[in-house]
Amino acid sequence: MFKKLIFSIFLFSTNGFSGVKGNEVSIIPKPNQLELKSGHFKLNANTKILVPSQKDVKELGHLLADYLSPATEFNLNVITENKDIQPNTIRLSIISNPDTLGKEGYILHVTKKSIQLKANHATGLFRGIQTIRQLLPAEVENPSTKNKKWRIPSVEIVDKPRFPWRGMLLDCGRHFMEKDFIKRYIDLLAYHKMNTLHWHLTEDQGWRIEIKKYPKLTEIGAWRTQPDGSKYGGFYTQEDVKEIVAYAQSRHINVIPEIELPGHSVAALAAYPEYSCTGGPFEVTSLWGVHKDVYCAGNDNTFSFLEDVLTEVIDLFPGKYIHIGGDECPKDRWKECEKCQARIEAEGLTDEHELQSYFIKRVEKFLNAKGRQIIGWDEILEGGLAPGATVQSWRGMEGGIEAAKLGHDVIMSPTSHAYFDYDVSTTDLRQVYTFDPIPKELTPEEAKHVLGGECNMWTERAPQELVDSKMFPRLLAMTEVLWSNPDGRDYEEFYDRVEVHFDRLDYLGVTYGSVSRPIFIRPNYDAESNKIMVNIEAGERGLSVRYTTDGSEPESRSKKFKKPIDVKKTTSIKAAAFKNGRKYGETAIQNIDHHLGIGRPISRTNSYASKYAARGEFAPVDGIRGSISFRDGAWQGYQYVDFNGTIDLGSEKELQSIEARFLQDNNSWIFMPQSVAFSLSTDGQYFETIHIDQNDVSPKTTEAVLKDFKTTMNGRRARYVKVHAKNRGVCPDWHPGAGGKSWIFLDEITIN
Ligand code: ACM
Ligand code: ZN
Repeated sequence: MFKKLIFSIFLFSTNGFSGVKGNEVSIIPKPNQLELKSGHFKLNANTKILVPSQKDVKELGHLLADYLSPATEFNLNVITENKDIQPNTIRLSIISNPDTLGKEGYILHVTKKSIQLKANHATGLFRGIQTIRQLLPAEVENPSTKNKKWRIPSVEIVDKPRFPWRGMLLDCGRHFMEKDFIKRYIDLLAYHKMNTLHWHLTEDQGWRIEIKKYPKLTEIGAWRTQPDGSKYGGFYTQEDVKEIVAYAQSRHINVIPEIELPGHSVAALAAYPEYSCTGGPFEVTSLWGVHKDVYCAGNDNTFSFLEDVLTEVIDLFPGKYIHIGGDECPKDRWKECEKCQARIEAEGLTDEHELQSYFIKRVEKFLNAKGRQIIGWDEILEGGLAPGATVQSWRGMEGGIEAAKLGHDVIMSPTSHAYFDYDVSTTDLRQVYTFDPIPKELTPEEAKHVLGGECNMWTERAPQELVDSKMFPRLLAMTEVLWSNPDGRDYEEFYDRVEVHFDRLDYLGVTYGSVSRPIFIRPNYDAESNKIMVNIEAGERGLSVRYTTDGSEPESRSKKFKKPIDVKKTTSIKAAAFKNGRKYGETAIQNIDHHLGIGRPISRTNSYASKYAARGEFAPVDGIRGSISFRDGAWQGYQYVDFNGTIDLGSEKELQSIEARFLQDNNSWIFMPQSVAFSLSTDGQYFETIHIDQNDVSPKTTEAVLKDFKTTMNGRRARYVKVHAKNRGVCPDWHPGAGGKSWIFLDEITIN
């Protein structure tokens, strides 16, 4: 229905009206039913806001006046009265239409004469008020606008959300976010009809919430020493928390606190090491990743401590749910702890996974007795799910599917679509827009357990000043996925509205990031034709793509990309996007190595991991090199095992050099091989090792690095080339994943 309206929207759009470009009606998230009528309601200084005597609705009347006042300079009168429609009024009223509207739905009726906003509940009115804001010119969000014409197109809207849970996780553990910044996010969520702030308050790198009974949690646990020796940290006092929760309530946003257990608890253990297995001591860590020191599950005092903490948390957060984490809890310490082992014995548990389940169930029982429900990450399925737990699925949708099939409620936030800490080159706007929280595997009955979804703003690489650029514009896609009817949703039509919405975000002071990577160079090796064809695509609309193959920077006059390029020799393709003749975004570079190994079969003693298969069998010899990102689809990963592969060149060739490129990204447990041995053979039976290149890259590099292991051989002849890269096997002792299986990542083996 909305799509058809685009035409009529143009028909009724006002010519020369400043501030409205393109479609006059452009609401995100898209309303379920919207009918555009002719004419406008003209807002002026005499417009009155009429409200019933109900306190929370009256407050909304004042909030609406406050929203409108900075830009319009009107101080609209809010009048309590219940009379019929009067001219030049905006009337907020509560009706009783629970079937069609639910708690958050609303009906908005704008005519030339008046505006009527109706809902079952104040929350629905609040959501409808956000629609009114988006029906006004974007300048209504700009306090210093010169615009003085405030017209609202005549519409009839009936709207309600698809899902009751529409959230954002904000990780204030890795980076502390100021109180006003959090309020600003509450406003931004509210403006986009989201309803949940999932506030991640405790981490290995910082404990952020004041607990009166355990002052060291914030005296010690809120502060870490950075690699450069400086102190970093901060925390919210209980007064701060109350202020934020009250602010969120006034914006009809639920705040769900997350108090992580049993893992991600190093900051708490630095303050109170007696609740660990080893007794410590520990430091609040500045290393990202998964840490092995976790709460001791065998010590009853640990539970008393957590119960005391949760008791104070409950008093601060009035909502039904407490998130208790439950993710990424290594079992190493429990395996070696006498108390934990005694617990396993006494409780008749089979292993440490069941001990984790025991831990979560015990905490759940405590919270249930206080009238609260728990939410945990999908790892809480392992070893048996706590009876009333809601599961937040993050490692894909599988955990959510399993939980829903078991009859548990589910929140979907898979890394594939909902991790906004990932770069847009991995998860772009279109990708988020394709998210469907209801997987095909669920029956309609099971699907009712999917409460909705969340986008997760983890902040290892996002201090406060970078959060906007990661959250926006992707939040626009997330809210539409969670609010709007999926039938007939279309990315291109959505993007029309996103373009209009950028003006609003500008006025709201949102420093949004890009929609997508501006340029995608997509090389493809086709084994059948033995050709490397390179396609280049723009990531956004309205961009022209230009490229060079001579190493020079692409300019607006460089060759325009029209059809896939057949690359016949070693080439560096540089491509850039241009908008209105000006360069847009960074230049993308793809090196294609044409070499003797292209498309030649590799026999391997160990297989690559299916998760990091890259382009499969030929990935190491397809001429297409991986970038600095291990997730770019070019890198082939080998976990725990060596890469030991023999490439058959088909016939004896004169060889000059062999290079094998590896990547290290130790945050992701990927290390350089310890050494790479190069061997040659003419018959495939007898190999002579001609060189072993030793690794010289420290395993401790904090950024990702690349290294070419290589050898030269002055025209020596061979048919078979063997490359043997030794995996270190496990992460080193100092590493958060110490003892866990380490990776080597390979791409490409270049034979000349
Ligand atoms: C998570 O990303 N560890 C929930
Ligand atoms: Zn223990």
